[in-house]
Amino acid sequence: MSLMCGLSMESLSSKYLSWVLLLLSIQICRCKGCSEEEKMGLLEFKAFLKLNNENADLLLPSWIDNNISECCSWERWPYYENDKFWLLNTSLFLSFEELHDLNLSANSFDGFIKNEGFQSLSSLKKLEMLDISGNEFDKSVIKSLSTITSLKTLVLCGIGLKGSFPIQELCTLENPVMLDLSHNDLTSMQGFKILPKLKKLEILNLGYNQFNKTSIKQLSGFTSLKTLVVSNNNIEGFFPFEDFASLSNLEVLDLSYTSFSGIVPSSIRLMSSLKSLSLARNYLYGSLANQGFCQLNKLQELDLCFNFFQGILPPCLNNLTSLRLLDLSSNLFSGNVSSSLLPSLTSLEYIDLSYNLFEDNRLDGELQQNVANMIPNIMFLNLSYNGFEGILSSSVAEMSSLRSLDLSANSFSGEVPKQLLAEKYLGFLKLSNNKFHGEIFSRDFNLTRLEFLYLDNNQFRGTLSNVISKSSWLLVLDVSNNCLSGEIPSWIGNMTYLETLALGNNSFKGKLPPEISQLQRLEFLDVSQNALSGSLPSLKSMEYLEHLHLQGNMFTGLIPRDFLNSSNLLTLDIRDNRLFGGIPNSISALLELRIFLLRGNLLSGFIPNQLCHLTKISLMDLSNNNFSGSIPKCFGHIRFGDFKTEHSVYKPVFGLYTGSLPSIYTGYLVKYLFFSTEERRDEVDEVEFVTKNRSSSYRGGILDFMSGLDLSCNNLTGEIPHELGMLSWIHALNLSHNQLKGSIPKSFSNLSQIESLDLSYNKLSGEIPPELIGLNFLEVFNVVHNNISGRVPDMKAQFGTFGESSYKDNPFLCGPMLERKCNTSIESPDSPSQSSQERFVAILYINPYWRQRWFNFIEKCIYSCYYFAFDTYSKLFE
Ligand SMILES: *[C@@H]1O[C@H](CO)[C@@H](O)[C@H](O)[C@H]1NC(C)=O
Ligand SMILES: *[C@@H]1O[C@H](CO)[C@@H](O)[C@H](O)[C@H]1NC(C)=O
Ligand SMILES: *[C@@H]1O[C@H](CO)[C@@H](O)[C@H](O)[C@H]1NC(C)=O
Ligand SMILES: *[C@@H]1O[C@H](CO)[C@@H](O)[C@H](O)[C@H]1NC(C)=O
Ligand SMILES: *[C@@H]1O[C@H](CO)[C@@H](O)[C@H](O)[C@H]1NC(C)=O
Ligand SMILES: *[C@@H]1O[C@H](CO)[C@@H](O)[C@H](O)[C@H]1NC(C)=O
Ligand SMILES: *[C@@H]1O[C@H](CO)[C@@H](O)[C@H](O)[C@H]1NC(C)=O
Ligand SMILES: *[C@@H]1O[C@H](CO)[C@@H](O)[C@H](O)[C@H]1NC(C)=O
Ligand SMILES: *[C@@H]1O[C@H](CO)[C@@H](O)[C@H](O)[C@H]1NC(C)=O
Ligand SMILES: *[C@@H]1O[C@H](CO)[C@@H](O)[C@H](O)[C@H]1NC(C)=O
Repeated sequence: MSLMCGLSMESLSSKYLSWVLLLLSIQICRCKGCSEEEKMGLLEFKAFLKLNNENADLLLPSWIDNNISECCSWERWPYYENDKFWLLNTSLFLSFEELHDLNLSANSFDGFIKNEGFQSLSSLKKLEMLDISGNEFDKSVIKSLSTITSLKTLVLCGIGLKGSFPIQELCTLENPVMLDLSHNDLTSMQGFKILPKLKKLEILNLGYNQFNKTSIKQLSGFTSLKTLVVSNNNIEGFFPFEDFASLSNLEVLDLSYTSFSGIVPSSIRLMSSLKSLSLARNYLYGSLANQGFCQLNKLQELDLCFNFFQGILPPCLNNLTSLRLLDLSSNLFSGNVSSSLLPSLTSLEYIDLSYNLFEDNRLDGELQQNVANMIPNIMFLNLSYNGFEGILSSSVAEMSSLRSLDLSANSFSGEVPKQLLAEKYLGFLKLSNNKFHGEIFSRDFNLTRLEFLYLDNNQFRGTLSNVISKSSWLLVLDVSNNCLSGEIPSWIGNMTYLETLALGNNSFKGKLPPEISQLQRLEFLDVSQNALSGSLPSLKSMEYLEHLHLQGNMFTGLIPRDFLNSSNLLTLDIRDNRLFGGIPNSISALLELRIFLLRGNLLSGFIPNQLCHLTKISLMDLSNNNFSGSIPKCFGHIRFGDFKTEHSVYKPVFGLYTGSLPSIYTGYLVKYLFFSTEERRDEVDEVEFVTKNRSSSYRGGILDFMSGLDLSCNNLTGEIPHELGMLSWIHALNLSHNQLKGSIPKSFSNLSQIESLDLSYNKLSGEIPPELIGLNFLEVFNVVHNNISGRVPDMKAQFGTFGESSYKDNPFLCGPMLERKCNTSIESPDSPSQSSQERFVAILYINPYWRQRWFNFIEKCIYSCYYFAFDTYSKLFE
């Protein structure tokens, strides 16, 4: 069960949940240490635990009875996964007269011995906090809780409550200050109206329930509330802010993710005590200027992200002088911020203005020269995906607390000021997709705490100098698509925390240093499209490697026998190098491999049968080599895109990543400063694939829908194995420019997903099996330059769209589009364009997005391997 109880929205990773949750933590030790009586009580408790868990002795070694054992220092009972439910014996706690806090969270309790409920705890006069979250108590416990009149904090988070909460049953509780009902299935509160009895209630958490608008309205009775969390409910419609005006003491209001819409009424200004307001992830719109936000002058945190607010950032926002956190990201704000941005918000620690970009709407302009002096306390600044421009001023040095800076996807230019490269605490720096230039790795580079560095898609020059080795904590180094040169230094091997190293598309030369194999944590390695030479080093120590891109260099020699040994490898791309020799059998150990691209080398020998062990492959490109022998029959057993049976390994590119690395946050709203590296791997993994057609590039989730086999431009002989007809999920098959003979297998009529089939330039004979007419997705069909005879298939279905260019240079083939006409004409009267139209619509209906992408790819039908020599080093895609 994944539960996030309490007020912090910080999410625990599931790994953490499985072993760190405490079964029980009793806080009895105050100033004096624990009494003999309490010690005895704990020992009885241990006996109770032993009844239910045979490991209790092992797990609680210091819980023993001797006169020197001080029970205050006894360890906590660790929670080990315990699927079985058990009953709670509340009498066990009665000896702890001083008991103050009782935390029974995440225990798998589902009831009580003797069915007594929490009644007996009422004799514990000092009990102020009770947390029973993450158990399976039913509604009947609520009444028994009302007897513990000393309670101030009651946490009922995630205990499976459904429907209406009987809040009137808690009316005897005079003292509660905090009530947490989050993560249940509550729809309303029974007896709301006879309230407020809970006169002192200051904190109420209703997050993650099913409350609707009607039930929320009733909250206006709780006038003592200071913190109200209603996030993740289904309120919908316009929100009745007026009703909240009576909550005049409210300091924290979280209405995020509640599906409500409309313009925020300016009466929100009446909630003048608010210090923290989140309306994030709703459907709110309108401009900020006239909505009263500017008058909430005690606000420290304002989160409006993921809405449809529009217009300029009004200058009146500058009245919010206490603001520490401002998140306006993913809205429709626009306008030139040059003069208006934040001149007096000196207390800001967190600013996110990212992704205000929609068609012509965007935030743009230059940052003020003295922007940093204006926000001297800033820790997190995200301006990515906007239209900001100009150079960064050296005043960034004033941002001496900066931990995370994301300026990616704007139009910033100039050099990166050296002051920025000496920010003491900077852990995350992303400048990708701008027009920065200059030698960033000059001696000024001094970011010793850096963990994430993204400089890709700029115009940086110079070499990877050893200044980076000061950043010895780096997890991500991405400098791809720049103009860096020189050699890849051997000390790169000293950066042992690296998980992502992306150096692609620069002008690096020399060898890939063998020290790179010391990067044992590497998951993503890309040195593609450089001028690297020499032989490939062994990378077998990189056990976690998932994506390897070495394509577009001048690597030579054999593929080392001990090249790779990562059972996690998904992508192996070594296209367009000068590698020779055969494919080593050791490749067959890469059992997870999905994408295997060797195109454009000088590889020779037979295609080893061992490749068939790699059954998960969906894209294989061995084209433009010198492989000989026959096509392994067992290729029919490779999956080539049977996506039903496998979970996606490539997540959608545009999916939102919700980080799980809690870091620094300001106040109530938890905002992460760092994202995991996962985000970037998905974003960057990109492969090209060429069939008869022009190459296209595929990223992220699209890769899941690509499947193809390209063996073209080799010296393959023998017949086409009929087993290839088993590849019923394959989209593209290219066997052209080989020496294949025999006939086209009838079994190809089973290639029901195929969109491109190229068998041209072989020595195929016999007839074209008429069954191929059933291939409804076929977009490209090519048998040019063979020795095929008989008649072309009827011009039905997709075959109605193929003309001479699909069939020519087969002297014995006849057809209406060929010089050689057939004797008896049985041409179909069907209108081909009609049926083609129908088919198109049907396909788009199945999955419009990727189908469209795939068609674009198939339609760019320009290149073939004859042009190979010309395009080896040029980028084929836009
Ligand atoms: C603890 O008990 C031992 C015998 O079990 C006794 O010799 C010792 O004096 C006791 N110590 C104290 C502090 O009571
Ligand atoms: C519950 O705990 C009390 C106090 O330790 C004990 O006397 C009683 O036997 C326990 N009840 C059961 C059913 O175990
Ligand atoms: C109870 O313990 C759990 C696990 O340690 C913790 O997450 C939770 O915050 C505690 N409850 C309270 C109210 O402190
Ligand atoms: C809100 O929920 C309550 C209880 O489930 C229901 O009676 C009421 O009709 C709902 N109101 C709206 C506006 O959906
Ligand atoms: C902002 O503050 C100025 C001066 O403190 C005041 O004149 C102005 O009315 C305020 N604007 C808003 C929208 O509250
Ligand atoms: C900055 O914002 C963009 C877009 O909202 C987001 O994808 C990115 O992860 C954010 N950067 C950081 C460091 O949180
Ligand atoms: C923004 O405004 C400044 C002056 O206020 C002007 O120099 C600049 O060109 C404007 N930028 C854009 C993108 O409109
Ligand atoms: C680099 O940073 C370290 C530690 O923050 C500091 O001691 C040193 O003076 C800095 N060097 C330069 C050249 O800024
Ligand atoms: C890399 O590590 C080696 C061995 O630990 C050390 O001798 C060398 O100086 C380091 N290189 C750099 C640039 O830090
Ligand atoms: C192709 O293979 C045949 C026999 O397998 C061989 O005779 C011929 O030389 C090869 N051609 C090339 C260009 O390697």
